[in-house]
Amino acid sequence: MNELPGNLFPRKLDRPLKLARSAEGIWIEDEDQKRYMDASGGAIVVNAGHCRKEIADAVYRQLMSHDYIHPTMFATAPAEQLATKLADRAPGDISRFYFLSGGSEANEAAIKLARQIHMANGNDSKFRLVARWKSYHGLTLGALSAMGRTAFRTPFTPLLKDALHIPAPYCYRCPFQLEYPACHLRCAYALNDIIEDAGSETISAFLAETIPGATIAASVPPDQYLKIIREICDAHNVLLILDEVMCGTGRTGKWFAYEHYNVVPDIVTLGKGLAGGAIALSALGVRECHFNIVRENCGAFVHGGTFSHHPVAASAGLALADILERESLVERVADKGERLGRLLTEKLLPLDAVGDVRGKGFLWGIELVQDKKNRKPFDRSAKVAERLWDRLFQKGFIIYVATGLAGTHGDAFVVAPPYIISDYEMDMLADAMESTFIEFFDEIIG
Ligand SMILES: Cc1ncc(COP(=O)(O)O)c(C=O)c1O
Repeated sequence: MNELPGNLFPRKLDRPLKLARSAEGIWIEDEDQKRYMDASGGAIVVNAGHCRKEIADAVYRQLMSHDYIHPTMFATAPAEQLATKLADRAPGDISRFYFLSGGSEANEAAIKLARQIHMANGNDSKFRLVARWKSYHGLTLGALSAMGRTAFRTPFTPLLKDALHIPAPYCYRCPFQLEYPACHLRCAYALNDIIEDAGSETISAFLAETIPGATIAASVPPDQYLKIIREICDAHNVLLILDEVMCGTGRTGKWFAYEHYNVVPDIVTLGKGLAGGAIALSALGVRECHFNIVRENCGAFVHGGTFSHHPVAASAGLALADILERESLVERVADKGERLGRLLTEKLLPLDAVGDVRGKGFLWGIELVQDKKNRKPFDRSAKVAERLWDRLFQKGFIIYVATGLAGTHGDAFVVAPPYIISDYEMDMLADAMESTFIEFFDEIIG
């Protein structure tokens, strides 16, 4: 075991990490002046580039004007304005936004709000949550109960609430061994089956990532999937919560990923890039009708949060939204996303160990396989994704690891650069990934 100097309880327990010294645009520099291209914006967070002066200025102004204001005591302009900005951008009548710090927190709040909406409507028996296997919704116990990533759930199983799970829309490894379109979206209709089996009078909400990210690596669902899900939810008076913590805020080339599918959820959650990574900020958005019913019949959303509606975090979110608008960065993602996907597909898909390349906008997944013909994953114990990630990192390229795509096995990467990445930098990244993959797999497979 390596020594871990200092007093920090670090995220990595196997070895000490290099000190980061500075970051700018899509680049991070370490203590040895080595530069790394941050092609995943950390954990799919940094969307307008590192250290944006506009965000820093807005945060400084807010800190020096009024920093912490308790949200039950005063309103603040940044929180009001950011809510309005998001409501203007959100399709449908998602018009009320509640701000928190992390994505897990936003999902916890969404699960509770769904329950309270049903209570406000006199449907007290509705409390159960349906979510999907292979999903990622966060690490707090409610979000973890909803989450369908086996390895993250297993140690805490005795602590989890009994959420119900249906298979994910994961065409590369269809849970029903069917092929699209002949499958007739069996994975979507699984929601109907589970609601009917459990008794729709008990089901409060269905929670799903609009485009799954951290577990099945940007596996984009078939176009009709969400529309069918919306209809099933409506038929059973089940609320639809879409988790856009990773895929929202412009990441897929639209401000909200659900815009691609012509549906409107009852509740949407945002996080990660909502303040560009400068500060922790997440949100839930809810339809006006639900907001009104809770207000009229309950008087309050029984929730709180010392740091909810934080004006400094909101000022960062507002500055980020201004940058996205001023520089047309969401439009740029829509425009350049195809180029990024084409490059990754051309360079990586021909390799024997790459089974699939898929994605939308600036959210791309690359799935690794031991045997391309039968899609056999590498055994997790080989830690293929982590070792290959290390190799790329040593060469100065940062992407994001996703694991647990096939039960507890399976390896993938998510490539999700800041929206400002240039064509030249995209070429550099794709070339570096191609040569590193070839070198690595030649060594381990021969
Ligand atoms: C889709 C999704 N939801 C929720 C979360 C949890 O967000 P946080 O880590 O900010 O709590 C994540 C984090 O990766 C995520 O990808």
